[in-house]
Amino acid sequence: MSRVAYVDGRYVPHRLAVVHIEDRGYQFADGVYEVLAVVGGGLVDEEPHLLRLARSLSELRIGAPLSAAALKIVTREVVRRNNVHHGIVYLQITRGVAPRDHSFPKSVKPVLVVTSRRRKPADPRTVEDGIAVITIPDIRWQRCDIKSIALLPNVLGKQLAKEARAFEAWQVDRAGQVTEGTSTNAWIVTADRDVVTRRADNAILNGITRLAVLDIIRGEGFRFVERPFTVAEAKTASEAFLTSTTVDLLPVVRIDGDRVGNGMPGPLSRRLRERYLAHAAAAA
Ligand code: PDD
Repeated sequence: MSRVAYVDGRYVPHRLAVVHIEDRGYQFADGVYEVLAVVGGGLVDEEPHLLRLARSLSELRIGAPLSAAALKIVTREVVRRNNVHHGIVYLQITRGVAPRDHSFPKSVKPVLVVTSRRRKPADPRTVEDGIAVITIPDIRWQRCDIKSIALLPNVLGKQLAKEARAFEAWQVDRAGQVTEGTSTNAWIVTADRDVVTRRADNAILNGITRLAVLDIIRGEGFRFVERPFTVAEAKTASEAFLTSTTVDLLPVVRIDGDRVGNGMPGPLSRRLRERYLAHAAAAA
């Protein structure tokens, strides 16, 4: 079956899907996006994703191209037309098409693109063995809370991770504190079994997976603290892990080549991963 994309009001074959060369997303990265997981045909945490999308739009003063109800219909329709049972949906909204000029154009219509594709569940070996991360300076802007399509520092960081045979790069602010990964949130577990992740301020994206995992942590009665942590603290933590819509929760066992804990995924990371997968499966 051939893939279908939704582009600015129409369902079109994916291979023919195009936007105008003067789309402001293309010229200025003037737009926002969301990635939702599809599990068992259902959308995981749809409401919080749509709320975050609305917030990103409002922070950039981009109008909503569709009502939330219509957006839900389009999203489901794209998943259905692509026959995605397990995968992701990508939503992107740019300010629209206008002659290139930095300031906002006067009358411009936001452009919505929705795509969906299948995705295999994480390789069991990755989960069993854990993953490696490197650390890099955080060179991004001061509004990382907005899910903007301007992802160049993230792209460069992920490439550095790949070249170092690591899964992710944890970005580090000027104070030496970890902000987040290039497409994931960062967590550690201290020797006292406190789960630690940075408070969701302007320095990080408030991950929807992060919020779901925080809920699970509360529900299970584990202790948690929202505070920054340094690379040194992460390297001597008893466990570390990362979260996102696309990877769920993966245990981190090496940071810059140094072993975390005993170098194997820790019990709390495993437990939280299981509980998160059960939460995601409930979307079906
Ligand atoms: N990235 N931090 C950053 C910088 C991200 O780009 C993402 C998500 C996250 C985790 O957010 P969530 O739990 O809502 O997926 C944290 C998506 C998946 C991406 O760019 O593909």
